[in-house]
Amino acid sequence: MARFSSMSINTKFNLIMSCLLIVLFISASFLIYQRQRNLILKVAVDNARNIARQIIETRDYISSVEHGEAAHNYALVPQVVATQIAARMTRDTKFYVRQVSLRYRNPGNRPDEYETEQLQRFSGRVVRENYRVVQSEGGDAFRYMQSMVAEKSCLACHGSYDNAPLFIRQRFPRGHYSYDYKLGEVIGAVSVTVPMAELYRDIGTNLKLDLAYRGVVFFIIIAIMAALVRRIIIHPVRMLSESISNVTRTDTFTPLPRTSDDEIGKLIAAFNDMMDELGRKRAQSRESEQRYREFIEVARSAVITFMTDGKIVITNQKAEELIGATRLELLGENIYDFFLEGERLKVEVNAFLEEIRKGRRPAATTFHVVRSADGGEHRVEVGLSATQTDQQPMITAILHNGEQR
Ligand code: HEC
Repeated sequence: MARFSSMSINTKFNLIMSCLLIVLFISASFLIYQRQRNLILKVAVDNARNIARQIIETRDYISSVEHGEAAHNYALVPQVVATQIAARMTRDTKFYVRQVSLRYRNPGNRPDEYETEQLQRFSGRVVRENYRVVQSEGGDAFRYMQSMVAEKSCLACHGSYDNAPLFIRQRFPRGHYSYDYKLGEVIGAVSVTVPMAELYRDIGTNLKLDLAYRGVVFFIIIAIMAALVRRIIIHPVRMLSESISNVTRTDTFTPLPRTSDDEIGKLIAAFNDMMDELGRKRAQSRESEQRYREFIEVARSAVITFMTDGKIVITNQKAEELIGATRLELLGENIYDFFLEGERLKVEVNAFLEEIRKGRRPAATTFHVVRSADGGEHRVEVGLSATQTDQQPMITAILHNGEQR
């Protein structure tokens, strides 16, 4: 992957926004999931509690109105009625209901491991209900239990053996542990089970819808932001940088349109101003250079302007005559090559510049011999002056013809 610092602003922005939104998206999904789960568990508790309540009330009612009918019709035993009603109530639901007891009469009502544990906790305590998500091999399940206590009417069949109806005594002999309950003692519990997978199925659909909806909203936000950034920042900056490289390449500049009043707009305005100013300065310096050329052309002595390394940049006609070369031949050549004692002149020029650097104004002239192109030698008196340009000092040498003295 490319280094972050070398990416374009566009890529950086998209990357940052995407990361941000992914984090938001994940945390939002997590929160939604938690909320949905809590909600679903709460609904499950409410449902289970209602089912248990209705079954317990049914049993209590049947038990209180039953007067020996169960002896002829076993289907009227409160437990059997309650079991049938529970089965009908939960027929089309994912809830599974049992009524269990530690001292069961019907082996079908034997509590499982979890139910046994809860029944033991119910007995001797005031806890009336309990629920939990229980892990098991068949998958996690939500389990709810509500205890049932022995009412007075229950004791007719669950009290002492001697008082129990004949059909009970015939089925459950003396000493059977389903007798001898005391009033208010926990006799069993309604146990409701729902597989978590069933509950999660609802969360799954809800969550998927919610996430799809959020994903679309997030995507639209990113797209709009990216378009804005491109328009407000990236496009003007790109225009600016293209204009700058255009100026350096072709030396032409057209003022950039200013599209806004914000920081970018001000930058563009400042850039336009700067380019204007530069253009004016350049025109000025071209003009003064032109004036200088005209000025040295009328001078009666040879004038050569050169850089510190000796490179000739300006000459006048007298200088060309003296050396016997055209201006084009002289420009760019090294001035010291045209002197018999070039090295000495160089030393003198450097000393002269050193003096100037120190703030003094040296005015000495020295004598030298110029070698012209045709091999002739001319004795000249060399006067130096220096001008400081932006980049480098330039030295002007005025060569008076020695013979004329
Ligand atoms: C008419 C007699 C009778 C009365 C009254 C009665 N029961 Fe029962 N009960 C039975 C019989 C019989 C069974 C066994 C049912 C079966 O075969 O499934 C039973 C079963 C139960 C069971 C299931 C555990 C087991 O033993 O298999 C519970 C719990 C229970 N009764 C609680 C009560 C409560 C609480 C009351 C009072 C509200 C009550 N019963 C009233 C006769 C009675």
